[in-house]
Amino acid sequence: MEKIIALNHKMNMDYDEVKNYIQKLKKLELNPIVFPTSIYAIEFIKAGFKTGLQNIYYHSKGAYTGEVSPIQAKSLGVSYILIGHPERKELFDETDEEVNRKIKCALDSDLKVILCVGEDKDEDYKSAIKKQIDSYLKGIDREIIIAYEPMWAIGKNIIPCHKKLEEVINYIKSFFNYDVKVLYGGSVNSESIKTLNDVNVVSGYLIGTVSTDINELEKIKEVVK
Ligand code: PGA
Repeated sequence: MEKIIALNHKMNMDYDEVKNYIQKLKKLELNPIVFPTSIYAIEFIKAGFKTGLQNIYYHSKGAYTGEVSPIQAKSLGVSYILIGHPERKELFDETDEEVNRKIKCALDSDLKVILCVGEDKDEDYKSAIKKQIDSYLKGIDREIIIAYEPMWAIGKNIIPCHKKLEEVINYIKSFFNYDVKVLYGGSVNSESIKTLNDVNVVSGYLIGTVSTDINELEKIKEVVK
């Protein structure tokens, strides 16, 4: 099965860089899901890319200055929402309850959810992931996609070994009564992908730091496709 390639641009690139990047990304024929900085989402949608937002709010409309609702995203042509990214938790104090509400609200607007889970460096992965899945998905039985993003691997140029990654992905899958797709994210680049891509249970990759680098994406494509 074809691997899912999700590109998390985080808060990178200005408008001119985005326009230039889009031209190059089109030529790459990578078929990614792009998570640009939200103000640029429309450009990716117009260019025909599957497009997501890196965050969303949990109300449909109202006096919530600075926020974007799932209904607004959907009406623009956004199809995916990334929820619970470790940077949202670490830097913006996003709580488990907020993550849960965001998932519900996004699914209610027929958006596809990619939910991040993963342990911190001192945590046991089993208990950390169980706790996250239990609280994030409380009262939710609709299908979602999971991204396993160990916090210790994000932006650090280290990745889990083959055995650990396989073990964690199978552990995550055991919580779901459908064949949940589990992506891996954390220091995915043109070097690490050579090791990562041997792990068959991985459904795809959530690429951060190198997602704005077309040369890196080209090399990743050579390994994955
Ligand atoms: P990274 O980030 O590729 O820079 O480690 C992954 C992510 O945060 O989604």
